[in-house]
Amino acid sequence: MITKWLYNEFQQTGKDYTLQKEVDVYDPSHDDFRNLAKEIQEVIEWLRPNKRLRFLDIGCGTGNFSLALAAHSEKVYAIDVSETMLKAAKAKADIKQIKNISFSHTGYLNFNLPEKSIDGVISSLSLHHLPDYWKSIALEKIFHILKPGGRFYFYDVVIPDHNSIDKINAFIKSQELKGGDFMREDTIIHFKEEYSTLDWIMKTLLTNAGFVVIREEIQDGVLKKFFCEKT
Ligand SMILES: C[S@@+](CC[C@H](N)C(=O)[O-])C[C@H]1O[C@@H](n2cnc3c(N)ncnc32)[C@H](O)[C@@H]1O
Repeated sequence: MITKWLYNEFQQTGKDYTLQKEVDVYDPSHDDFRNLAKEIQEVIEWLRPNKRLRFLDIGCGTGNFSLALAAHSEKVYAIDVSETMLKAAKAKADIKQIKNISFSHTGYLNFNLPEKSIDGVISSLSLHHLPDYWKSIALEKIFHILKPGGRFYFYDVVIPDHNSIDKINAFIKSQELKGGDFMREDTIIHFKEEYSTLDWIMKTLLTNAGFVVIREEIQDGVLKKFFCEKT
């Protein structure tokens, strides 16, 4: 039992997503550097939702992936440690009258779903809020609740194994060009205060948890997608 020494994932690290002002600017500021429609398309292609399948979106934020998955699946569990984010995501679902999303105020280390009950999991830009040891616990939990053959779409900032300082500086510069002072400062906070880890460590954590990494993609030097399977 690790209840006494469990990491407190509800305490915010780096960006404080419990603040309404951060939630209000989240979607518009991310539009400056992300192609959300393309990301959603990739998630749908990898997780292959249909009306008999159940999905888990961890660190769902403003709910963009949960809403997209819900349209094609039986049920989506959308979880986040920020109640403010969950409220924003739920408001979007209410406007679109989407009723098959279960929103819960919980996180990687505290969610509770039965073993082998979930067909696919998405973790997008949220696992880096946990230090590495706790990332490994989170990945083991994800592996545990996935059905055999289940798929995991994992997207996050990952530190390159070589020339990391140059690549991080180049990324900060490119984020500034796309989103001005706000995005530059947002990116600096990311590297200064949050827990993105090295590529080789991230890959080892995934494979140690049992996942097979079927495909990897890197964008802008540090944005990495791992398309994983529980075989
Ligand atoms: C950068 S946002 C990503 C939101 C969304 N997944 C996306 O791709 O746009 C990070 C989210 O992770 C949440 N988060 C941070 N630590 C978490 C944890 N331990 N468990 C679940 N969610 C967490 C934050 O509250 C925030 O909503």
